[in-house]
This record gives sequence, C-alpha cells and structure tokens, in this order.
Amino acid sequence: MTDPWLVFAGFALAVVVVAGLLRLVPRAPRRRLRRSVILLGFYASVLVLGAALSWTSVPGLVAGLRVAASVLQLLLVINLLAIALFDLLLRGLRVDYPDILHDVMVGAAYVVALGVLMHRAGVNLTSIVATSAVVTAVVGLSLQATLGNVVGGISLQLDDSINEGDWIELDNKTQGQVKKIRWRHTVIETRDWDTLIIPNGQLMTQSIRVLGKRDGEPVQRRMWVYFNVDFRYPPAEVIRVVEQALQGAPLEGVAREPKPHCLCHDMARENGDSVCYYAARYWLTNFSSNDSTNSLVRQRIYAALKRAHIPLAIPAKTIFVSQDDSEHRDRKRVRQLESHKAALAAIDLFANLSEDEQRTLAASAQLAPFSAHEVITRQGAKAHWLYVLLKGSAAVRVSAPGGDDRQVAVLEAPNFFGEMALMTGQPREATVIAQGEVECLRVDRKDLEGIIQQRPEIASEISGVLATRRVELAAAREGLDSVAKSQRLSSERSRILHAIRDFFALHSESDDHES
Ligand code: CMP
Repeated sequence: MTDPWLVFAGFALAVVVVAGLLRLVPRAPRRRLRRSVILLGFYASVLVLGAALSWTSVPGLVAGLRVAASVLQLLLVINLLAIALFDLLLRGLRVDYPDILHDVMVGAAYVVALGVLMHRAGVNLTSIVATSAVVTAVVGLSLQATLGNVVGGISLQLDDSINEGDWIELDNKTQGQVKKIRWRHTVIETRDWDTLIIPNGQLMTQSIRVLGKRDGEPVQRRMWVYFNVDFRYPPAEVIRVVEQALQGAPLEGVAREPKPHCLCHDMARENGDSVCYYAARYWLTNFSSNDSTNSLVRQRIYAALKRAHIPLAIPAKTIFVSQDDSEHRDRKRVRQLESHKAALAAIDLFANLSEDEQRTLAASAQLAPFSAHEVITRQGAKAHWLYVLLKGSAAVRVSAPGGDDRQVAVLEAPNFFGEMALMTGQPREATVIAQGEVECLRVDRKDLEGIIQQRPEIASEISGVLATRRVELAAAREGLDSVAKSQRLSSERSRILHAIRDFFALHSESDDHES
C-alpha cells in the first residue's frame, strides 16, 4: 500500500503547481483553490490523527480515519481536476461558462465518487437509492420554494439572458446593475446605493428589461430630455440649434453614434397652452450616471437656445389681451402691406411696376411657409400662384418622360419662381422643393392678370426679365458666347411675350398696327 504521507506530498505539490499556473492565466479565479487547500489541511489532520491513534490501538477509530482519508483524497482529486478543467483550460481558451455549471459538475462527481467508495466498502446502494427517493420527495416538498429559486438560478446562468454587469429594470420599474447571480438569489445594486437581494424564483416569474442591450450593438440606451419652446419660434429652427449644440462637441456619457438629435413631439396639449413640446434624444453609455448626463444635456440645450435668442417657454398660462379695434387692425394691415411691397420690389420681375401696382399685388399676397423637403410647386400641375422666395433656398427638379429626375437649379432668397406657368398658362415645368425652412409670398394669378390687362406693356417688360433669366441659365449650362446669347435672348423674349399675350388674351402692338 502507498505511504499516505507520500500521497499527501503528491497532493501538496499538485496544489502548488495549480496555484502557480493560475497566476499565469489572466482572469482565472483563485477562490476555488482555497477549497483544495482546506481539504489538504483536513487530509493532513486526518493523517496526523491516524498516526497518533495507531499507538493507542483503537481499531474502530483507525479504520474510520482511513475511510475519511480516502474520501478526502477523492474530494481533492475532483477539486484539482475541476480547477484544471474550468479555471485553467477553459479560462485559458477564453471560453465563458456559468459558475453553476462548474458547481453542478463537481457536485455530480462527488456523488458518483462517494457511491463508488460505498460500493467498494460493501454498502447496498440499491436500498439507499430506494430510501433516498422517499427522503427526496419529502425534502423536495418541504423545500419547494428554495428548490424553485435554485432552479431559477441555474436557468438564469445557463440561458445567458442576464449576466453579471448587466443593467436591468424589474417589473416595479426599479433599475440596477446585476452584481452576482447565486444559486438561490441574485444581487442587484441600484443607483441609490441600495442592494437588492431577489430570490431567483421571483426573478424568473417577471419580465425583465435588460437596459441598452441589443444583439451585435454596443451597450447604450436611448434617453429623452424634454423641453418646451413657445409657438412663435419655428420648430425647424429650434431643432437645428439644439442638434448643432448636441452634435458639435462630445458630452461625457453620450454616445457619438447614433448622433444625439432633437424632435418636436407635440404641440399645445388640449389647446391649454401655447408651447411646442420638444425632446432631445441621445444614447447613454454610462448607465450609473443617467441623471447627471441628462443634466449635462439640459445645460447644453439651455446655452444653445440662449445664444440663438430662443427662450424656453415659461411654465405658466399666459393670457394675451389684444386691442382688437379697427385702428389696431388697420395699423397691422399697413405694416404687413409695406413689408410685402418691399419684398416684391426687391425682385427684378416686379421692380419696374409702379408703386400702386406693387401695392395692389402686395395687398393680396399671402405668406406661405414650408418645412424642409415640402413640394412647393409640382411639375405638370396647373398654376395658381407665383412665388417670391423671402427666406431659405429651394431646389428645382425636372423629371424627364423616361422617369429620370434631376436637379437643375437651386434658388436662394430673395428670388422668385413659378412665373412661367403663371404667365403662359402652361403646366408647371419643374418641381420646386424646399431645402430647409422656407418662407414665400404667394402672388395670386388674378391680381397679376388685372395689372397686365390695365397696362398691357407690362407683359413686354416681364417677358424681358423672364427671357434674360432663362438665357442666363442656358448660357451657364451650355457655355454660350455673347452673340449666341443675344440671339437666344431675342427669340426667347418674343416666344415668352407671345405666350403671355395668348394666355391673357392681349392684343399685340403689331395687331394694332395691322388693323
Ligand atoms: P413654373 O413652370 O411656373 O413652375 C416651376 C418653376 O421652376 C418655373 O416656373 C421656374 O420658375 C422654375 N424653373 C424651372 N426651370 C428652372 C431652371 N432651369 N432654373 C431655375 N428655375 C427654374
């Protein structure tokens, strides 16, 4: 028989070697080695006790100690093999496994090893299994809740749905970070510095939200920061200012991608207030500091709005009392008329009209704002208005019969468009689309017609302006020289003039001469 002290020396050497190897494997846990060291200590004590008792010749005790030594030897072998397999080999290969898998396998190995030992010692295992089935049933019934938690713990770890380090939200809206998943319970730490100990059975019966987790994406969570601005400030402008501020420079705790952005998510609720409701949305990277990151975002929004002279809405109901008498209305009308007239006079198409004619057009012109990408005129449509572009820019797009759609020009304010169809009665020859926030004045066809009917020579002036504009564009596109340009100008002018005269049923000067 092998000398038990030699066996002890072998185990001690194995423990030292395993301890040395554990140091070489990064992230390898050392806590399981402690169990082997303790078992080794027990083994040594049993050997010492056996040696002491051998002199006193108490046979029963000596035999008992021998069995204990055999059991301890088996436990040591199982523990050291488990460390070698799980902590050295699997960790070394960077294979992640749930702790419970290790525990279950070691537990099963203990049971098998003890069974083998008992069988060798002549114990009848069949009767033990039969008795233990009854005992198991009794114990199972009395420990139902505990077993439920244990099964919950096993499935939590095996199905990988929640891992240590994840941030989760429970059914009762409590949020926290998973610190430990144990056999019976899970430990969660909240942002308020509390520790929640939740029985695994309970955890398995509710729906758990794992915060910011998406397959194949970085762990980050979309956050909403709300603010209100009153109606008088165009939403597109508010959104532009806020997005520029949030995207312009990094903010701690805010992901670069997807970019933070802003949206107008509601208007006056139940007509009770006069504000637009906005939300800035960003992706939070550090879940433990959600409130402080929200605060940083709010500070940036506040400063950006202040710089743009856009005040946050005052959280109070304001009653506007306006003086609605005829004098007040007249003053307002005159102010509006003058501003429309100035806008019309600023474009070359109407620059040659008399003050009175400009005033007539201005009186009925309507302000028409458009938001980004809105279609202002559509190719092929019938024309009702001519547009004076007061603010912003618009893209002119033409689609060919084959379906080929291309941009032919970008018009910047101050400018005009929609004149061709309006003056000639042809369908719109292009689609004009707002590029961002756009503000236009719509000039009514009937008013223009009235002016042209009263002073037909205007048609000639207008055709001159329209022809010049068209030829300038064609010259830039086709590289026309000055001779070709002036030829094109004269033919284009006469074509447009004819079209205008036909459309407004005007007599041409030549007709007058002929009659
Ligand atoms: P209308 O045809 O009434 O409606 C579309 C308008 O787009 C058109 O009048 C012009 O004002 C404008 N437009 C068409 N083609 C061009 C172009 N090539 N460059 C600039 N503006 C254009």
